[in-house]
This record gives sequence, structure tokens and C-alpha cells, in this order.
Amino acid sequence: MATCRGTILLTGANGGLGCGIVSKIITTPELAQYHGVYVVRDASSASSLRSTLENRNLPHSYEILSLELSLLANVREFVRTLHARIAIRDIPPIRALILNAGYHDLGQQSVTNEGFDTSFASNYLGHWLLTMLLLKDLDSENGRIVVLGSSSYDVNHPSHKIDAIYEDEKWKTFFRNDTIDTIANSTWSSNNDEDLHRRAGTRRYGVAKMCNVMMVGELQRRLDADPALKNLSIVGIDPGAMGTGLLRRGNWFTRVLLWPVILPLLAPLLTWLEPNGHVRTINKSSKDVIRAAFEINPELRGKYLNGSEVQEVVPEAADVKKRAMVWRDSVKYSQLTKQDTALIDWA
Ligand SMILES: NC(=O)c1ccc[n+]([C@@H]2O[C@H](COP(=O)([O-])OP(=O)(O)OC[C@H]3O[C@@H](n4cnc5c(N)ncnc54)[C@H](OP(=O)(O)O)[C@@H]3O)[C@@H](O)[C@H]2O)c1
Repeated sequence: MATCRGTILLTGANGGLGCGIVSKIITTPELAQYHGVYVVRDASSASSLRSTLENRNLPHSYEILSLELSLLANVREFVRTLHARIAIRDIPPIRALILNAGYHDLGQQSVTNEGFDTSFASNYLGHWLLTMLLLKDLDSENGRIVVLGSSSYDVNHPSHKIDAIYEDEKWKTFFRNDTIDTIANSTWSSNNDEDLHRRAGTRRYGVAKMCNVMMVGELQRRLDADPALKNLSIVGIDPGAMGTGLLRRGNWFTRVLLWPVILPLLAPLLTWLEPNGHVRTINKSSKDVIRAAFEINPELRGKYLNGSEVQEVVPEAADVKKRAMVWRDSVKYSQLTKQDTALIDWA
């Protein structure tokens, strides 16, 4: 491990984009020198990741670890082991923490054993806690966190008009109260509402991604003011629509035709015509995520990218009071304490 340049920790490493990112790491000489911590839900299977790794032709040290991100107790347990290993230099500090795991239920609503909406906990809360706990394990000079966003967080995105996801006025603003409890506990946009389940599920995914995007600006602000962590940075990125496994819980057309067949067929041409357009190849989005993680450009700090270009976040994501509310409630749900995190302004 002595020659290792640092660690890359990637969640959702067995998924479509996850495997694309791993492909880039193992085929790029400078990246292959990093130690890969590839995090999956169940390391005993992870067949897509394993077959991706079989194609490596450069030396690359890595490990595949299990983590159920929707359970906060698991996140804490996972980090305890990792802390100990980084402390004794069994693995190097984390240069890139890529929060890529994603869960889109498309209407099969569920609540975790800890009482959180599965989409909220998998996409956002588990990643938020993982980040807070790992801050002291990041490379203090160049550590970068990359958060995967999605156009689903933007209620005015033209793609939502097709299925009228946010058409009703009551969905046009996510946060209308002084707490996000109904979002976290799965009563907001629930399947008990009089609407199609797939629309309700897409909104639950959208609001979780909104929390991810808000975390970018809010955490960067707190890092900038922190004497020990001020060199760390966080970047958000929308990878565009890609033919991955994300919509495997959808209806027959989406699950069997649209995402696995039609999207991959159209993506090369559409990406060529408009590189940061709505539909993209996994290859292009993997490159964009790698760039977001490794390009040492101070202008990327705390920014949100649409593929390879910087994009303004929507007004609700930039709302300072709402960002603070999401942060405050995340502290409450995860029962974060001063001892848990290296961030001074954690509360
Ligand atoms: N594909 C798109 O069109 C698109 C568009 C915009 C944004 N994104 C974002 O891109 C990222 C990558 O997604 P993808 O498209 O590659 O989808 P994917 O193929 O479904 O991969 C997502 C991965 O996340 C893992 N995951 C989900 N919930 C988890 C949990 N609670 N604990 C641990 N692992 C969990 C999944 O594990 P299992 O396989 O075990 O469930 C899966 O391997 C996500 O953040 C997604 O929201 C994708």
C-alpha cells in the first residue's frame, strides 16, 4: 500500500454508473494507483462490479465492502472499522468520497427499520451521515466529496411534464413547513395520496435528491469556515439519464424496454449531439464524475455540475434558511454528536 496515492471510496459501486466509474479508475494509470474502497449493498454478490474489475490490466489495489446505506446504525458500524484502518495506515486517507448509490422506488413505498422513508434514507440521510463521520479521514489537502444529484430535484425540469409529476401546485415547492419530518417519515407524497404510485415515488426520489444538492452548498459553507477542514471541497453533479438499473422497480415498459434497451441505443447519438443534454452514455457521465472528483479547480468548490458544465441550483436549493432546516433535521435524525465528526460547525 506504500505507493498508493490515496483512497477512492465509491458507494453504489455495483450499479450502472458505479461500474462505469470503476472502469475509468482501472484503465487510467494515475487513477489505478489509488486504493479503491468499492461499497455495495452485499459484497458476497456484486457480480457486475466483480466482472468489471476482472478487465483491469493495470495494477490496482481494492476491496469490496458491504454497507446498507439506508440504516444509520450500519453506516456508523462501517465507519468505525474504516476509521481504525485509516488511523493505523492500513489504507490511505480518502482523496475522493463519491456518493453515488441511488434508489428510485417508482411507487413501491417502504420505510426502513429505523422509521425513515427508504428513498430519503438511501439517497440522502445515509450519505449525509457517512460524510459527517468520514470528514476526519479525508485527505486534508485535497479531499473531495462528490454528490450525485438528478434533474428530478428540479420541479420545473421539462422531462417531468411528460408524466405530470409536479403539475399540481402543491408539489411545486418541496419544503413548506419548518421541519422535513413528513418527508423523512414517508408521509409526504405517499402512496395513500390520490395519485399514481410512480408519480408519488418519483417525487420521493426528487426530494431526496434535493436534500443531496442542498448538502453541497451547506457543507461547503461550513468547511470553508473550519480551520482544520477548509481545504476539503464538495461538488454536486447531475449525470443525466442513463440506461442503468435505477428504474428496475418501474412498470414493464420502463423496466424492460425504456431504460435497458431504448436509452442505451439512443444515448451515443444524443450525447454526441448534445453532450450535457438529458440523455447520456454511462461512459460520458463516468468521465464527468471522475473529473468532478479529481480536477483541482478551486472554482468547483461547492458547485453543482450538469455533466461537465457548472449549473446554478434551483432557488429552493439555494435557500439558506431551508438548507439550514434540512441540516438541523439531519443532525436530529442521525443523533449526531460533537464526538462523531471533525466539523466544528456541525450542529
Ligand atoms: N440512471 C439515471 O438515469 C440517473 C439519472 C440521474 C441521476 N442518477 C444517479 O446516478 C447514481 C447512480 O445510479 P445508477 O443510475 O447507476 O443506478 P443503479 O444502476 O441502480 O445503481 C445504484 C446503486 O446504488 C445501490 N444502492 C441503492 N440503495 C442502496 C442502499 N440503501 N444501500 C447500499 N447501496 C444502495 C444499488 O444497490 P443494489 O443494486 O443492491 O440495489 C445500486 O448498485 C444515483 O445516485 C442516481 O440517483 C441516475
